[in-house]
Amino acid sequence: MDQDERDWWRRGIFYQVYPRSFQDSNGDGVGDLRGIIARLPHLTRLGVDAVWLSPIFTSPMADFGYDISDYTGIDPLFGSMEDFDALVAAAHDSGLKLILDLVPNHTSDQHPWFIEAKSSRDNPKRDWYIWRDGAPDGGPPNNWLSEFGGSAWAYDEASGQYYYHAFLAQQPDLNWRNREVRDAIYDVMRFWLRKGVDGFRVDVIWHLIKDAEFRDNPPNPHYREGRPPHEKVLTQYSTDQLEVHAVITEMRRVTEEFDNRVLIGEIYLPLHRLVAYYGNDLRGAQMPFNFALLSTLWSARAVEQIVADYEKALPPGAWPNWVLGNHDRPRVASRVGPAQVPVAAMLLLTLRGTPTLYYGDEIGMHQVAIAPDQVRDPFEKNVPGLGVGRDGCRTPMQWSAERHAGFSTATPWLPLAQDYASDNVARLEAARGSILDLYKALIALRRKLPQLVHGSYEPVAAHGDVLLFRRRAAEGVAVIALNFGAAPASVSSSAIGFSNEVLLSTFMDRQGEKVEGVLDLRANEGVILGPPVDGVTE
Ligand code: GLC
Repeated sequence: MDQDERDWWRRGIFYQVYPRSFQDSNGDGVGDLRGIIARLPHLTRLGVDAVWLSPIFTSPMADFGYDISDYTGIDPLFGSMEDFDALVAAAHDSGLKLILDLVPNHTSDQHPWFIEAKSSRDNPKRDWYIWRDGAPDGGPPNNWLSEFGGSAWAYDEASGQYYYHAFLAQQPDLNWRNREVRDAIYDVMRFWLRKGVDGFRVDVIWHLIKDAEFRDNPPNPHYREGRPPHEKVLTQYSTDQLEVHAVITEMRRVTEEFDNRVLIGEIYLPLHRLVAYYGNDLRGAQMPFNFALLSTLWSARAVEQIVADYEKALPPGAWPNWVLGNHDRPRVASRVGPAQVPVAAMLLLTLRGTPTLYYGDEIGMHQVAIAPDQVRDPFEKNVPGLGVGRDGCRTPMQWSAERHAGFSTATPWLPLAQDYASDNVARLEAARGSILDLYKALIALRRKLPQLVHGSYEPVAAHGDVLLFRRRAAEGVAVIALNFGAAPASVSSSAIGFSNEVLLSTFMDRQGEKVEGVLDLRANEGVILGPPVDGVTE
């Protein structure tokens, strides 16, 4: 097998679609699979390689698809199995890989497995979930908290026991210590792999195994008022248990029954814990998602430190990856501010490692304010007023200035950003130097310069608001200089090391400029320097 083909996920650029919000094709205000098919040309024009879909499976939608009642069914809201097969074919015909969301930690409480498990204490499926007797006072078995508020234990009157749910009570956790559970989910994986999907993003993979003794979690000494209540305890015993790695290796093996598939893990952990998810001898996830940029202070020094820490923590041979946005965190444009959006884009596409883009970030979509009566997210409903709501980063994709932004002919399930008439794909595609234009140029340049893909990362000392690094490969060197500040800055050529020209500026107006002596950066400007490349300079 060709090494290039095997390495597609290392070279490739991933793009997350939140299916409810990408494109509606049947006029119900909710996105669907036929809508995604219709919009694949946007993704090929943008130049990405792989599309990851948030869940599209049969679901009561208590957590918008992360509560699954049939792992091998397509929810009618999104379409049919024929639509799915058509999507796989259309994606592959367009040269795109297709990644599905696998949600193995919990099912819906409407899943037949749970309905059976709940039916009696001696039902054969009882042990597929996590049941415990109450504490001596009748309260929950221990102090574990649900990420969406309240105790993580729900009492089942009929059988007189509690079941564990790390998220909503409608999302009971599966018992991954049970062999039948593992095998059932591995069969689900095979079902989709046989259909041709190119891999999985595995939901909350670090949650799969819990402490065998269900010990109380310790209090969090750093808890601050105003933070969500589940942060009052540390998740020492409820997540990130050593035994989880054997499970992930089993999942990896299932993907390897097929050619060229990828296993991505959703993991919110500090970098030194995160890297354990590559597994012993790299037999874990190929890409444990690196979310460090989602929560960083946006400054050159903070980002420089994160990159250094990550590069240092990576086990030998482990391939890095970077994420700027997803459906659970505030939009990058709102986190870094509009002026820094191009700098963030350049950072994502020049760091060493596979980048994952979140739909709409390529047109600079920002967090949309959601009025109280429009809130849909169960997290916000359960824990109101702290700003934890995720609706604001899940609003409909802005395709055009038409009514409902070209997303739907009906009122969308979440409100559109007010500025969609100016910030939309159709307008930005035609606007020279727009954020969309920049994303395309960055992706195209990444394709032309192998050093941006597989080159080493070499930090270069810089001060103040400037982040400076090199990417070096046998094919050549590129220098990246990013000004995180709102004032001009300059970098001396001794720092850059050799004479270069500008291959790309975030302002897209100085390609081909020779840089000798000093590189002047405007406020909020990033540049990529290197030896001239055919077809890049104008
Ligand atoms: C993951 C998903 C999130 C979901 C949660 C529970 O964190 O990304 O959207 O609510 O898991 O399934």
